[in-house]
Amino acid sequence: MSTPYLKTDPWKIIEEGFDPNHVKSSESIFSLGNGAMGQRANFEEHYSGETFQGSYIGGVYYPDKTRVGWWKNGYPEYFAKVLNAPNWIGIDVHVNGIRLDLNNCLEIQNFRRELDMKNGVYHRSFTVQLEKNCAIEVHSTRFLSMVTGALGVIQYSIKALQDNTTLEFDSYIEGQITNQDSNWNDPFWEHTNQHASAEGLALFSHTLKTHFKICTYAHTEFVDARGAIIAAECTSEEQRLSQKAIVTLQQGEIGTATKFGGYFRCDKSSESTPLSEVKELLAAAQNQGFETVKTAHQEVWSEVWKQSDILIEGDEKAQQAIRFNIFQLNQTYNGKDPKLNIGPKGFTGEKYGGSTYWDTEAYCLPFYMATKGAEVARNLLKYRYDQLYKAIENAERLGFSGGAALYPMVTMNGEECHNEWEITFEEIHRNGAIAYAIYNYERFTGDKTYLPEMGMEVLVGIARFWAQRVNFSEAKGLYVILGVTGPNEYENNVNNNWYTNYIAQWCLLYTTEMWERLQVENQQVFKTLASKLKVRKEEVQSWQSIANQMYFPKHPEKDLFLQNDGFLDKELQTVEQLPAADRPINQHWSWDRILRSPYIKQADVLQGFYFFQEHFTMEALQTHFDYYEPFTVHESSLSPCVHAILAARLEKMEQAYAFYLRTARLDLDDYNKEVDEGLHITSMAGTWMSIVEGFGGMQMKDGALHFSPKLPQQWKAFSFKILYRNAIITVRVDQAGTRIHSSGATTSIFCNGAPITVNSDV
Ligand code: BGC
Repeated sequence: MSTPYLKTDPWKIIEEGFDPNHVKSSESIFSLGNGAMGQRANFEEHYSGETFQGSYIGGVYYPDKTRVGWWKNGYPEYFAKVLNAPNWIGIDVHVNGIRLDLNNCLEIQNFRRELDMKNGVYHRSFTVQLEKNCAIEVHSTRFLSMVTGALGVIQYSIKALQDNTTLEFDSYIEGQITNQDSNWNDPFWEHTNQHASAEGLALFSHTLKTHFKICTYAHTEFVDARGAIIAAECTSEEQRLSQKAIVTLQQGEIGTATKFGGYFRCDKSSESTPLSEVKELLAAAQNQGFETVKTAHQEVWSEVWKQSDILIEGDEKAQQAIRFNIFQLNQTYNGKDPKLNIGPKGFTGEKYGGSTYWDTEAYCLPFYMATKGAEVARNLLKYRYDQLYKAIENAERLGFSGGAALYPMVTMNGEECHNEWEITFEEIHRNGAIAYAIYNYERFTGDKTYLPEMGMEVLVGIARFWAQRVNFSEAKGLYVILGVTGPNEYENNVNNNWYTNYIAQWCLLYTTEMWERLQVENQQVFKTLASKLKVRKEEVQSWQSIANQMYFPKHPEKDLFLQNDGFLDKELQTVEQLPAADRPINQHWSWDRILRSPYIKQADVLQGFYFFQEHFTMEALQTHFDYYEPFTVHESSLSPCVHAILAARLEKMEQAYAFYLRTARLDLDDYNKEVDEGLHITSMAGTWMSIVEGFGGMQMKDGALHFSPKLPQQWKAFSFKILYRNAIITVRVDQAGTRIHSSGATTSIFCNGAPITVNSDV
């Protein structure tokens, strides 16, 4: 772990002092987003040092032609790249003719970044000596409006530290941008039109192949020390538009550039360039002014926190971390646009491309469901329903038929775009998480309409896939699933990964049960679906029969499920025996060595124990946790959270606390030495689960909501809120016990197994 350099504060992330080695990491950590767009915390002014420039628009991607060494049939044609979009934040500054560049100056003092998570605002300030007798103090404030998805705002002020300081501002839009992870160095954007006038700058572009039409726009107002507006000169060069102004200051005086800008999504089908709409958007923001726009933005954040904040008393590091996670999740996805989803890196980097992994269903759904409500969660499920036909096409490409659906490992529009064979073809457990999310949604929200309207079709497609993917082993007299990769991607092409077999079995049984329920509860829909999907009674019986004859690898002597066939043949040395210098092993070992080792990247068998808690005894959980955790290297960000939850269930509170900190501070303390590439957004939902499901012990059981809270000894108290069936449930746990309160309709819930009514404090 690189030395943590950020200050601890309950509501803020703070960096003090300039270290060029931290620039890329801080660009990730101080990222901003508003659900519609987002950007890394790149400097507004020119920076010639190492930086990773990134500004992204939700859902805008490019299908980058697949690049692999050896083509395999069934590979997707492309990898969906989250696209770096034109830069609208740039403000180049010359001071008395010298370019402001923190990589090329005499001295930097008081450098400070501050992410104010309560208000969703990012501040940066520093004093810089550019040359002898040429120093300035800079303050910048930036936010992406939570009210207007297309709008971002920057206020950039410079104080002169000597008389006769001439500032030349060049506030620009730059269209010449690239992706670091481009496969062929293809151009991704084509710029079609540009306008520069006193009203503002507008660069119209579309993405090649996918034809997303975007207008990158900006307007900057320059104000001198007396508050007078300085007229700007507008220039329009190829792919670069700018507004330039000269401000002259005496010592102590301040000149300010206030920039409104962002990305306006144009109608794909429309031929015209909606310049007038862009102008309206800009004019509305300018009429309100910086402070009013900021206040409205902060009010949205205040509402977000009212529902989703988690309070931890007595442990500032833990408090800061959970807020950082909740903050980033809200910056990434707000549920307003059902076509969007939650990418593993959100708007903070390029890695992972695509936007949707099984992470959404397995990790993110519970957070959004309990903090934003059933409708947002339903939208996440609907996203997959809308892509069912693509999942069926995907399965067909791999030789499946009859409506079998294999959802992609990673996607933007429903098409698979992952191209490592061991994942594309083999990491099929992802299909199970999609069915599990439907189950999870219904049991938590009580909404029984999703299944007949959409969910049933998804379940049938998934069940059909499993029914075809298994094969009957004559030798075992049971069904097996060969050639898979489980959640532990450090083993590929294994036979009978226990988790995959288990979730496949569960999908088949659950689909059967839901199909039968539909027949009883809703004859009309049942008949319509039976005819639309051509489901026959014998087919449903075969699902049940396969499920009942599923094979599971077991230890020959112990009461223990094996991760997969052959696991015991490995050299079973635990992680403790690994030299520290070898870790993370994915950065030090060759791939074959990793595959042969017993080391587990993330919860695998234990993922099953997490999902299906009620299927196993505590004793079984204990046995499996004690067996598998010591082999787990937690090199996926998704790992520590599941382990934190399970450790809390087992009352291993010290371990649970350590895993909590690891998941919660994964990026802040850069545990996996890769924060410079972007943040781990989807695992942040796992951090939330560590508290609510781990320490809070929240669980749905037999249609009721249960809590079994446990307080880590490092904390004085913690509290959280849950949106549960028209009620807001507040849970507070301290050394004296647990208090549960409901603001809405009375709901019966259980605390430590005892029923309580929560229309008042208990
Ligand atoms: C994990 C996967 C996950 C992906 C995206 C990988 O490192 O092993 O489980 O879906 O990252 O977060």
